[in-house]
Amino acid sequence: MSLLTVDRLCAGYGALRVLHDVSFSIEEGNVTVVLGANGAGKSTLLRALSGMIPATGSIELDGYELLSGRRRRPIALLGIGHVPEGRGTFGGLTVEENLRAGGYHRPRGEVERSITEWFELFPRLAERRDRLAAGLSGGEQQMLAIARALMARPRLLLLDEPSLGLAPKMTGTLFDNLRAIRERMDMTVLLVEQNAHLSLQIADDALLMTAGQVGPRRPAIALREDEQIRRAYLGA
Ligand SMILES: Nc1ncnc2c1ncn2[C@@H]1O[C@H](COP(=O)(O)OP(=O)(O)OP(=O)(O)O)[C@@H](O)[C@H]1O
Ligand SMILES: [Mg+2]
Repeated sequence: MSLLTVDRLCAGYGALRVLHDVSFSIEEGNVTVVLGANGAGKSTLLRALSGMIPATGSIELDGYELLSGRRRRPIALLGIGHVPEGRGTFGGLTVEENLRAGGYHRPRGEVERSITEWFELFPRLAERRDRLAAGLSGGEQQMLAIARALMARPRLLLLDEPSLGLAPKMTGTLFDNLRAIRERMDMTVLLVEQNAHLSLQIADDALLMTAGQVGPRRPAIALREDEQIRRAYLGA
């Protein structure tokens, strides 16, 4: 079943049109990776989906049209969590305060339970719960940004290049963590990732993006075995 259906989506910045009639759907419970060259419009696509920039066309989340209606509700309430490029933590807040901020609209008891659950799942964050986010390592900040987005219990999580700037070992840990989260929570993820090798291992489906357009959805495993893809994205 499709959780998200996008139809003829157009978006850009002022006079610059970046997305040209983008149409695709993603399956509930799947991890879908978006691959594409620098400047293809991957981040712009995520921004349009989460309402950070205006867009036309249709974005349907679980049958609910997000682009209709004059008054938009906060995106978190609509069920989309977005971890933007370059991490999204509040540097001046502690780890625990960041998590709390992510669950601001949920009942207090649920927030407490989620925080306990996170700290069980990520002991590194638990050890640093009273430290300021600004003092964490890049990988820890990335995990915190993801945990904070998940505190809102989104139906759909948008992740923009979570491995950017991380050492290879840290990237491996991050992807292991993503797998663990995925097994624990029934989640749908749209992942933009430059590390095609790792992302095609964790993803179920893949979308290729070229110059503001998105091609047909394909199983990640098919891309891993595709000669052209291997040459373009996997360096083999
Ligand atoms: N805030 C902005 N204002 C104006 N133009 C922008 C803005 N952000 C991106 N663009 C332009 O939109 C186009 C698509 O950029 P986008 O950041 O979506 O690409 P991307 O696929 O995410 O690239 P990368 O892999 O480098 O992150 C580019 O031509 C870029 O210059
Ligand atoms: Mg980008």
